[in-house]
Amino acid sequence: MKIAWLYGSHNISFNKPYTWMCLGVRGSGKSALLEHLAEQYLAEGHTVLDLFAARSGESLAWLRSKYATEKSILVLTGENCVAAVPHADVKPASSLTLEDFSTYDIIINSCVFYPNIDAEFEAVNSIIDLLWRRRRWTRLVYVLVREAANLLYARMKIAETQSLAKSFMAYWLRESRHSGCSLGLDSQRFMAVDVDVRSLIDFLFLKALGAGGLSRDMWFVYRYIQPSWLQYAKPNQFAVVTRRGDVGVGVFPLPPWHAREGEDVAFKLGVHVAFEEAPEKPVDRGRFKTVGDAEHSVIVAAYIEEPYGMVKLARRMGRSPATINNVIDEHNSSVEKIGYCPACRRVKGAYAEKPARKSRLNIQQVEAENAGG
Ligand SMILES: Nc1ncnc2c1ncn2[C@@H]1O[C@H](COP(=O)(O)OP(=O)(O)O)[C@@H](O)[C@H]1O
Ligand SMILES: [Mg+2]
Ligand SMILES: [Zn+2]
Repeated sequence: MKIAWLYGSHNISFNKPYTWMCLGVRGSGKSALLEHLAEQYLAEGHTVLDLFAARSGESLAWLRSKYATEKSILVLTGENCVAAVPHADVKPASSLTLEDFSTYDIIINSCVFYPNIDAEFEAVNSIIDLLWRRRRWTRLVYVLVREAANLLYARMKIAETQSLAKSFMAYWLRESRHSGCSLGLDSQRFMAVDVDVRSLIDFLFLKALGAGGLSRDMWFVYRYIQPSWLQYAKPNQFAVVTRRGDVGVGVFPLPPWHAREGEDVAFKLGVHVAFEEAPEKPVDRGRFKTVGDAEHSVIVAAYIEEPYGMVKLARRMGRSPATINNVIDEHNSSVEKIGYCPACRRVKGAYAEKPARKSRLNIQQVEAENAGG
């Protein structure tokens, strides 16, 4: 990145938890610039959290960068997501710890690994809340938020009103440095219009602004830069305004791994994603407790591994032989009809695809029990 200062000047350091924002129309090179900044933080040994991307798979493009082999990468997923991701460790966002921010160099949270937008927003919120608890650190975390307005929508899910969500945004911008976080946000307009939010931004990058141009309180920039230049700036060009009011223009290189619009990065990288149903829990029905998936699979496994023991097994499980019998029937009928038992599969049971054969002895035992009481 190269900057020529037109008014004042500012020595930019990537060892400070600055907040950065890129403003510009779609395709003006905002995300590419945020990624370039991320690379500068990485070069200084800091951590990058690619928290949010509205376009599917945009943040997965890290996996085809040189960092895929040079750095350690963690990919976060939804609760019931099974994912195979080349060059990365994978774990649910809910088990992310503050330690992971020192273990990993790049942490990617991508919508590709969530079954729906609600699950994704919930994860985004929980990651932000976790970061807030960071008290001691040696590395900065550069948090990349592509299309930051979406973060506001995510927050609106838990804040009652839009104004509460906005004040959260202001709070986050103001306080993030205290938890060692540097924020890189991009926006097509939305928040940058908001003066309270803008006053908290250390570096505001102006990319091609289109017909809209600058809001009134930013007009001083036109003293140094022609409106038409800002309107049509090329993707590698930007103007920059610091919090103090320094003004400059600059250029930056396109990260070669950057995802192009409409590109299916997940597919190209061979990322595999599947969503499992959540295991069914037992339900207490007063005199009777239903058999949850976990118990179901224990019963099936015990039955297959120790044949001829339905009554003994019933006693051991604290169940009636009829219940055991029902479990085995259910299991077998699923395996027969659809090739696997969903209950066993949900808890990753070893016999999800195997029927549990009943012996004649077992059937007689159950019939005798049932007749007897
Ligand atoms: N520094 C750059 N040099 C050359 N081309 C760039 C540069 N930055 C962005 N581009 C081009 O602009 C396109 C859009 O960039 P992107 O960052 O995705 O836009 P935005 O996030 O503003 O919608 C890129 O796919 C790339 O072709
Ligand atoms: Mg973008
Ligand atoms: Zn089963």
